[in-house]
Amino acid sequence: MTFLMVLGREPKISLAELEAIFSSSKVKQIAPQLALVTAHSIPFNRIGGSIKAAQLINQPIQDYLSNLPAGKITLGISDYSEHANPRKTWDLALKYKNMLKRHNRNVRLVPNGKSPILTSATSHHNQLGEKTNHIEIVKFGKYTGISIGTQNITAYAKRDQARPARDAFVGMLPPKLAQILVNLATTGAKTGTILDPFCGTGVILQEAILMGYSAYGTDLSEKMIDYSRKNLDWITNRTLRLQKAGAPKLYLEPGDATSHKWQLAEPNFIASEIYLGHPLSAPPAEIKLKQLQQEAKILLTTFLKNISAQILSGTTLALATPSWKRSDGSYSGVNILDEIDKLGYNAIKYRYASYDDLLYHREDQIVARQIIVLRKK
Ligand SMILES: C[S@@+](CC[C@H](N)C(=O)[O-])C[C@H]1O[C@@H](n2cnc3c(N)ncnc32)[C@H](O)[C@@H]1O
Repeated sequence: MTFLMVLGREPKISLAELEAIFSSSKVKQIAPQLALVTAHSIPFNRIGGSIKAAQLINQPIQDYLSNLPAGKITLGISDYSEHANPRKTWDLALKYKNMLKRHNRNVRLVPNGKSPILTSATSHHNQLGEKTNHIEIVKFGKYTGISIGTQNITAYAKRDQARPARDAFVGMLPPKLAQILVNLATTGAKTGTILDPFCGTGVILQEAILMGYSAYGTDLSEKMIDYSRKNLDWITNRTLRLQKAGAPKLYLEPGDATSHKWQLAEPNFIASEIYLGHPLSAPPAEIKLKQLQQEAKILLTTFLKNISAQILSGTTLALATPSWKRSDGSYSGVNILDEIDKLGYNAIKYRYASYDDLLYHREDQIVARQIIVLRKK
């Protein structure tokens, strides 16, 4: 089956995530914000970088619509084609509604307003792609698909903001980015243990557990281990499937990532956001920047050396590392590419994303996150 994926705010990172889950040969970018994926199914709720997924249909849309199961139909259209416009999209929606009415079907159209594309909030609010007969037609040029889901912004916000233990100083890794890191590390494997050696308040561990992996978190700070425990107890208490026998396991203990000995049982994947340094409100002066980069590099390389002796060859590490905004607006991170080989790792290469493309940032951010993905040789 072929799926049309609508990519997120950082499309290159979204593409790298899809390549990691499905392998590069199954992913084809067809527009800046769109990609095709060949797969049996799409585990949409586990993908952090894509906004919407639609299964392409290989029959005329009229035939598809006339064969929907009995009951009322809720219908919306998103047209991502280059020359799409809201009026044409609405006219098309009316045409399908009239056609269905002639077949005595009751249809409610979801208005697309001033855009040919329904917003994620509209699609989600109307449960398009999530419930029987709640249909969103997704179009791009010659491609027509039926949505299988839109990113659940409300659930992400809840998982982020309602957690009992939060810490602005440690930074708040968005759950979507945590999912992306887990996917970059697990490359499609559905079971195993995710180790986060800089676990902080536990966002990566939380997302890993929700995705069905066991999770192992360590952090230098006892307070952070306590925060992670509180947050993970909270997510377990509100998620029935995590309370059942056979549910993913959680291990937490304090430890310095540069010297800790983890109790690792295979298979393991490492997904982590290393220490980003102090939050900054303005770009650091060049001399300060050099110092921050040097400190981060020492931490990262010492950690990589320490863990290298404890993991199997082939283990993948997806790491968010700091990258600082300069006064000219460019970003400058921790350059470890030259050292990777010496440390016993290869950097993973993606078809659609270079190393520099894996910068996760917002314009107003001084400390951005450079994602690096390594594999132990
Ligand atoms: C950017 S935060 C990680 C935040 C985390 N992703 C979360 O969900 O809250 C980095 C963490 O690294 C920890 N840390 C700093 N130096 C460390 C070291 N040498 N070993 C282990 N943890 C360390 C800090 O205590 C902090 O919690």
